[in-house]
Amino acid sequence: MTNILCIGAGYVGGSTMPIIASHCPEDRFVIVDINEARIAAWQSDQLPIYEPGLDEIVWRTRDKNLFFSTEIDRHIAEAEIIFVSVNTPTKTFGRGAGRAADLQYWEKTARQILKNSNSSKIVVEKSTLPVRTAEAMERILNSNGNGLHFDVLSNPEFLAEGTAVRDMQSPNRILIGGRETESGQKAVAKLVELYARWIPRERIITTNLWSSELSKLVANAFLAQRISSINSISALCEKTEADISEVANAIGRDERIGNRFLQSSVGFGGSCFKKDILNLVYLCEHYGLPEVARYWEQVVLMNEYQESRFAANMVASMFNTVAGKRIALFGAAFKANTSDTRESPALEVCRALLEEHAKIVITDPYAMENASQDLGELAARVVFEPDPYAAAKSAHAIAILTEWKQYAELDYERIYHSMAKPAFLFDGRNLLNHKKLFELGFNVYSIGKPPLTRLVNVGLTSA
Ligand code: UDX
Ligand code: UDX
Repeated sequence: MTNILCIGAGYVGGSTMPIIASHCPEDRFVIVDINEARIAAWQSDQLPIYEPGLDEIVWRTRDKNLFFSTEIDRHIAEAEIIFVSVNTPTKTFGRGAGRAADLQYWEKTARQILKNSNSSKIVVEKSTLPVRTAEAMERILNSNGNGLHFDVLSNPEFLAEGTAVRDMQSPNRILIGGRETESGQKAVAKLVELYARWIPRERIITTNLWSSELSKLVANAFLAQRISSINSISALCEKTEADISEVANAIGRDERIGNRFLQSSVGFGGSCFKKDILNLVYLCEHYGLPEVARYWEQVVLMNEYQESRFAANMVASMFNTVAGKRIALFGAAFKANTSDTRESPALEVCRALLEEHAKIVITDPYAMENASQDLGELAARVVFEPDPYAAAKSAHAIAILTEWKQYAELDYERIYHSMAKPAFLFDGRNLLNHKKLFELGFNVYSIGKPPLTRLVNVGLTSA
């Protein structure tokens, strides 16, 4: 039996560890966190995150070989392998503010591991970190005078929210980076062995530490770049009567391009893409590569453009004013099948419309609590309505901002009749059947497609 600890019970730690535990019944897993309420939620019937299929795995493993606790020090002492998945947000102060990763939680955790250890351990970076962070961690951890040795490994997480369970049960690849020393390679082998219990060996890639750290940033940068690329073309489609879905299909059929991550949208959100790209940009600047930095920065700028363009198009289409108009936002989560609203484009659109003095109603099946928290003081100016039909009642416009399947299945005829006229529908995810909606009476505006409207001279104007 191996004692395995995970520090950080957020989305990453909380969804990966139960799955690993379910495949390794003979090992003992403990997930700790400084946040008592979060740990209490993991111990309850109402888990703190919504992730399809995760509940069942937690029920199956919890209190058998998986435990949740706030007693960090004690569990550090007992552990042989420690995964660290504490958050690494973008720095908000000092050097690198707005770009660099804030490593204070990581460093604090490393010192806490050192203080409470009386045996050598493997420490695994699960959080996304700037390349060469492991070097600093090794220095801190191996600064002890009592002969203990710590091997630092990088094992970045590639799972996506909403499909975390599927991604972890059958990942494209598991990446493990370690030092090329004898002890480093032994640590790598130990982690490989853990994953090999259910993942085919050929899907477990081992690299040097720096390649592994960097690959995580680069994977997210490439994925986000595809979305910004297709979104940039959506703006051109709106000017030229080309249709972004047709263009995406036509280019995606080229096997060299591939058809995934070509869904044009109101923008990408989530806790990772923006943060990781800005981190990559900062690293490039740090290493004296300003041209490379500008190249990647443009992916984030294009995303911000897409979000503000969408909100500006709404205002322009609704006779250049939304002041006092009720607008129903369908979706607050940054994507479907999650309750997560971090960096959600839906909330960016909400903020932009509030600035124009619109009366905003938000509906979402799982993310309203997080949306309210993220909006802070602005939440007091927003109505939260769980029922989409009630949200749309008397509204001048609906904006689809999260691609929840249930929004495609609503009775839009009923919705149309309950709305103020002319009724507008802005589809920020190209989720609905636009022709049908137009036939029902809606003026329909989507991403990268000609608008379907009966209104003359009130076309799209990009601000
Ligand atoms: C986070 C980062 O956002 C991501 O970049 C990284 O790859 C993994 O960690 P996530 O799990 O989604 O991802 O973050 P979050 O949900 O904020 O969870 C982090 C947890 O760590 C929180 O529950 C927080 O309370 C905990 N934490 C933080 C500690 O237990 N100790 C600390 O010192 C700091
Ligand atoms: C991402 C990476 O996919 C994952 O590998 C990494 O571990 C964490 O970051 P996640 O943020 O959970 O995962 O979601 P993802 O499915 O990548 O979507 C990110 C954003 O891009 C969402 O807002 C989504 O709606 C948007 N998106 C995605 C598009 O707008 N178009 C697409 O074609 C795909």
